[in-house]
Amino acid sequence: MKILITGSNGQLGSELQDILKSQADKECYFLDRKQLPLDQTLIIQDILGMYQPDIIIHAAAYTAVDKAESEPVLADIVNHLASEEIAQYCRLNGAKLIAISTDYVFDGNSDTALTEDAPVDPINTYGLTKLKGEQAVLKWHPESIVIRTSWVYSTYGNNFVKTMIRLMTEREEISVIDDQIGSPTYAKDLAQAIVDIIEGEDWVGGVYHYSNEGEISWYDFAVAIREIKGLDCRINPIPTAQYPTPAKRPKYSLLDKSKIKRTFKVEVPDWRTSLQAMLAKVTSNE
Ligand SMILES: NC(=O)c1ccc[n+]([C@@H]2O[C@H](COP(=O)([O-])OP(=O)(O)OC[C@H]3O[C@@H](n4cnc5c(N)ncnc54)[C@H](OP(=O)(O)O)[C@@H]3O)[C@@H](O)[C@H]2O)c1
Repeated sequence: MKILITGSNGQLGSELQDILKSQADKECYFLDRKQLPLDQTLIIQDILGMYQPDIIIHAAAYTAVDKAESEPVLADIVNHLASEEIAQYCRLNGAKLIAISTDYVFDGNSDTALTEDAPVDPINTYGLTKLKGEQAVLKWHPESIVIRTSWVYSTYGNNFVKTMIRLMTEREEISVIDDQIGSPTYAKDLAQAIVDIIEGEDWVGGVYHYSNEGEISWYDFAVAIREIKGLDCRINPIPTAQYPTPAKRPKYSLLDKSKIKRTFKVEVPDWRTSLQAMLAKVTSNE
């Protein structure tokens, strides 16, 4: 089985490398920005054709959520038009496609966990480009699997967990938003779920939701990081209004994971268990 992974140096791409590199039954091509420049849409299908993959895991994206507000054209090219090219390639060449999307396709005002058929209404420019990307993927290649995820972190790359560790080490006091509710996703768990789907017997196209289990605020997440890491820093809960950002963020974007669990029997670990695992890895790397 030949698998091509886009965004190989990103959080998810790096976790996929860790899992897939040791699997002898799979021939994997991990492509970074230089090998597959997604902003050059005209050459994407030619590059993919050089590898003839059976499956593409499309983990690359323009993920600078705030910057997307001032770079909407580039964000659209990378998240929408490049995804469309990849889906067209897959359809024309009989390859399977797993593409990753986001909770930001919703307006963030729900008060119950979001199922895959909840109405979409992107909360910001990044969310809009990702929604157009997932719609293009399913239009050109309806058997594709689109997985929406949220609050992704890993030992690789930059993310909330690593920022919190740095700030809590440097400062005596920090402030963290407590009125945005969701669930984090350890990229290693998502990578394992993707590999389990690929290895499973049933391939059922469509949209799925995946994050870790649980429902917390960013403040709760920061407090848990402090506890597990044994740091000594005061954390003040603040409302979103006290931390304005160029891109709007959802008040509530908890993803309902029933469909992915039911369809593919994938495991969805609890957020705290996964945070402990990630922080143990951070500590052993120090
Ligand atoms: N991070 C989150 O909190 C979050 C939340 C919801 C959904 N998602 C989605 O989950 C997926 C994985 O996210 P992640 O956290 O692993 O993202 P990430 O760490 O930011 O990685 C994104 C990857 O995309 C690559 N990329 C960006 N622009 C590119 C371009 N023009 N051409 C080629 N490659 C390009 C980056 O390359 P460089 O390494 O060279 O920059 C990077 O390797 C994405 O689809 C993202 O939209 C993420």
